Amino acid sequence: MHKIKITLNNEKRLVDIEPHEILLDVLREKLGVKSPKCGCDRGDCGSCSVLLNGKSVRSCLILAVEVDGQEIVTVEGISKDGLSKVQESMIDNNAFQCGFCAPGVIISATELLNNNPHPTREEIKEALSGNLCRCTGYLPILEAVENATKEGNNE
Ligand code: FES
Ligand code: FES
Repeated sequence: MHKIKITLNNEKRLVDIEPHEILLDVLREKLGVKSPKCGCDRGDCGSCSVLLNGKSVRSCLILAVEVDGQEIVTVEGISKDGLSKVQESMIDNNAFQCGFCAPGVIISATELLNNNPHPTREEIKEALSGNLCRCTGYLPILEAVENATKEGNNE
C-alpha cells in the first residue's frame, strides 16, 4: 500500500493505493468522485476523461501512483460553483440522451475552450474526436460547444 497526495477539485487529498490500481478506480471507489465512467477500460471511449494538470487524460490508462503530487479536475470540480457555460449549453441544446459520455465530453470541451476560446467547428470536432457517444449522433454535442463559445463565456 502506498499513500499519495493529490489536489482533487481544488482540495488536498491523501489516499492509500495499491501499485496496480488505475486512477479511474481510485477516483470512483476511494475518493467518491463518480463523474468519470468506465466505458471500455482500454482508452477507446473517453468516458473516463479527467483534467490532469489542465490536460485531458484517460484515467483508465493511468496508474494512480503516477499522479502523486499532481492536480486533477473532474466535472465535480468544474461545476463546484454552479454549471459552467459548456454544461449550460449542453442542457440548452439537449446534447445528451443517456448521459454516459457526458462527463468525458465536458472535460474535452473544457480543455479546448480553456486553450482556444473561439474554436472552429473543425477544431471542436477534433477536440471531441476521442469521446464516443452511442446515442446522439454527435451533432447536438457539437452545436452545444459551438453555442457556448458564441455566448462568449467559457468558464
Ligand atoms: S474507460 Fe477510459 S477510455 Fe474508455
Ligand atoms: S448520450 Fe448516451 S452515450 Fe452519449
